[in-house]
Amino acid sequence: MERLEMVMLEIREISYTYDNAKKAALQSISFELDRGEIVGLVGHNGAGKSTLLECISGLKWPQSGKIIINEKEYGISFVPNDLFLYNMLTIKETLYFIGSLHSLSRIEIDKVIKPLLRLFSLNSKENDYMKDLSYGMKQQVALIIGILSKPTYFLLDEPMNGFDALSTKKTKDYLTSLAKEKEIGILLSSHRLDIIEDICDRVVILNTGRLVYEGTVSQLKNNQTFEDALISVSGDKHADNF
Ligand SMILES: Nc1ncnc2c1ncn2[C@@H]1O[C@H](COP(=O)(O)OP(=O)(O)OP(=O)(O)O)[C@@H](O)[C@H]1O
Ligand SMILES: [Mg+2]
Repeated sequence: MERLEMVMLEIREISYTYDNAKKAALQSISFELDRGEIVGLVGHNGAGKSTLLECISGLKWPQSGKIIINEKEYGISFVPNDLFLYNMLTIKETLYFIGSLHSLSRIEIDKVIKPLLRLFSLNSKENDYMKDLSYGMKQQVALIIGILSKPTYFLLDEPMNGFDALSTKKTKDYLTSLAKEKEIGILLSSHRLDIIEDICDRVVILNTGRLVYEGTVSQLKNNQTFEDALISVSGDKHADNF
């Protein structure tokens, strides 16, 4: 895909240290996310992926650096890894409730959610309580919640955890169509290298709070498997401990 002239969302030198932590969780991270592209955020456990997504979404305030958005009107939607869902609401009640918080009418909410409930085969469960759903189903409802606010940038923290093969395939196709047809910029973290390789235009690799690679998966691989190439740029996060 041709990159747009002007970068739309710029992450510039973001650093974040948790209270009482000895080491920064993020050290001067810079990269860009344009409308219409899917960027994968990859790295070992504790590399800083969730912290970075929280900083970009505004849930955390970095000690230094900036998020610059070159648009007058935009919306950022973040689907975190540790979901907070209302156990005693049904799927439909949850979606109507969240939709109403975004000032959407029932007709507008239905227009967004009906095709997505069908996509995830959740339409027969729309009157089930959230507490009675499987983990993968809850993740799917969380994705629909994220879309309800009609974001221009969609941040997803390990969005397909617990998805079966068919749901994974449908979600990959859906995210690709959101990016390419609706020009939404998507940043998603995942340990599933197959997903990253299938749908991401570029990857950003973090290692212990530092950005160690930004570019395409094919450039990174250079005749290796994605897994081997990732491990070779990431090094061994445990090495410091020995
Ligand atoms: N609430 C917290 N308080 C202190 N340190 C934290 C807190 N949350 C995360 N950290 C630390 O910040 C660093 C980055 O954590 P983060 O959760 O962003 O990693 P991650 O890349 O999302 O890992 P994973 O793949 O396991 O989800 C880690 O060293 C972690 O121990
Ligand atoms: Mg995480």
